[in-house]
Amino acid sequence: MSAHTPYGSADFDSRQFRTAMGQFCTGVTVITTLTADDQPAGFACQSFAALSLDPPLVLFCPQKTSRTWSVIEQRGAFCVNVLSNRQQDVSANFGAPREDKFSGVVWDPSPAGLPVIRHCLTWAECTIDQVADGGDHHIVIGRAQTLGEVLQDKPLLFYRGGYLSTEHPRVTPAQAELENFLTWTGGDTWL
Ligand SMILES: Cc1cc2nc3c(=O)[nH]c(=O)nc-3n(C[C@H](O)[C@H](O)[C@H](O)COP(=O)(O)O)c2cc1C
Repeated sequence: MSAHTPYGSADFDSRQFRTAMGQFCTGVTVITTLTADDQPAGFACQSFAALSLDPPLVLFCPQKTSRTWSVIEQRGAFCVNVLSNRQQDVSANFGAPREDKFSGVVWDPSPAGLPVIRHCLTWAECTIDQVADGGDHHIVIGRAQTLGEVLQDKPLLFYRGGYLSTEHPRVTPAQAELENFLTWTGGDTWL
């Protein structure tokens, strides 16, 4: 069998990098917090991931210029709101640099008072554990303190710069693959 050399280019610009990375499909979250005078703040964030089971850690990556990040850093805590496919408008709202992102948004306070956006799939209230440098972004590691209830709805997905939704029935990976997934919810010895 002859070896196949896949085509690749080391001479890429940031537009090409963005296009390549846009092939990776993610969910969408809104990361919220409160200002020093208890005003709600938040931004749309796709760079969210579950990081560790024990201890329960998550991560997200805000741009260093994000105004919400400086508020989160000051507060030392944030709430991850996982959006459903009915909340595309919420994502668009929190994804733009507006002053009044919370106008018209219904939210309830988490135990620490942070904004939980009504009808999100689930939420997790977290405290900042570590912040690492990630080029023009920060890599923020948070420790989950409180988890919200889970709604039976479909997730909002972000792919190639646009929104998508899943269709049921879902395709389930093979058992052997599932066992390596941090977020797999089957079985009794895993999450
Ligand atoms: C679907 C979606 C995903 C986004 N993901 C991120 C992200 O992971 N990190 C980030 O810094 N900005 C992300 N943004 C952009 C921010 O939400 C946007 O820059 C926002 O205006 C930042 O607001 P702020 O400056 O008030 O914090 C995303 C926007 C959208 C619409």
